[in-house]
Amino acid sequence: MKVAVLVSGGGTNLQALLDAKAAGRLPEAEFVSVISNRKDAYALERAKAAGISAEVLSKRKFASSEEYDIALRDLLLAKGAELVVLAGFLVVLGPAVLQAYRNRILNIHPSLIPSFCGDGAYGLRVHEMALARGVKVTGATVHFVDEGTDTGPILLQKAVAIHEGDTPESLQLRVMQEAEWQLLPKAVDLFTRGKVHFTNGIAWIDEQDS
Ligand code: GAR
Repeated sequence: MKVAVLVSGGGTNLQALLDAKAAGRLPEAEFVSVISNRKDAYALERAKAAGISAEVLSKRKFASSEEYDIALRDLLLAKGAELVVLAGFLVVLGPAVLQAYRNRILNIHPSLIPSFCGDGAYGLRVHEMALARGVKVTGATVHFVDEGTDTGPILLQKAVAIHEGDTPESLQLRVMQEAEWQLLPKAVDLFTRGKVHFTNGIAWIDEQDS
C-alpha cells in the first residue's frame, strides 16, 4: 500500500517508520512521499537519506487555506497515496483532504486522548499541560483524523509513567521512546495489512493481530 507521510519538524516519528521499513517490519507499506509545510524541517533530510521523494508545500505560497487544502489533496492523489500519516504535521487538514482520505489518515498525538488534546495542544505544550495537571500517567495515541481536532477514531494507545522531577522535555523524550516510536509503525503495519475495520465510527483491530 502506498503511504505518504506529512511532517513539520524534526521527524523522529518519520524515522521510526523508515527504520521499521528497513528492518522488514512494514512488509505492505511503500513510502512514496514525504511532504513538509516547512522547508527547514529536518524530516526532509531523513526522507532524502532513505531515498524517498521529499517535497515542501508551504501554506504561504497559497492565497487561502482552501487553496492549500486542494493543492495538498491533489499532490497526495498524484503520488498515488492510499494512506496518509501525520507525523508531527502541524497544519490543520481541510475538507478536500479529509473527504478524499476518509478513515485513511493516521495521526500520532503525544497524550492519552481525550486528555490534553484539541486546539492548541501540540508538541511540548501537551507535556506542559500534563505536568501542570499533575497526572501520574500519560502516553501517546494513534488515531484516524476527522473534521475535529484529535476527535477521530482511536486505533492504538500506550501509557507512559510520569516521574517526579520530569520536565516537559524529559517527558516528551520518554513518551517518544516508550510509546510514539513503537505505536506509529505498528499502526501503519496493521492498516497496510488490512487488519483495521470500523464499527459505528469505532476503529477495531482484527482479533488475531491485536
Ligand atoms: C511528536 O511528539 C508528535 O506526537 C507531536 O509532535 C511531535 C513531532 O515530533 N504531534 C502533535 O503534537 C500533534 N498534535 P517529530 O517531528 O520528531 O516526529
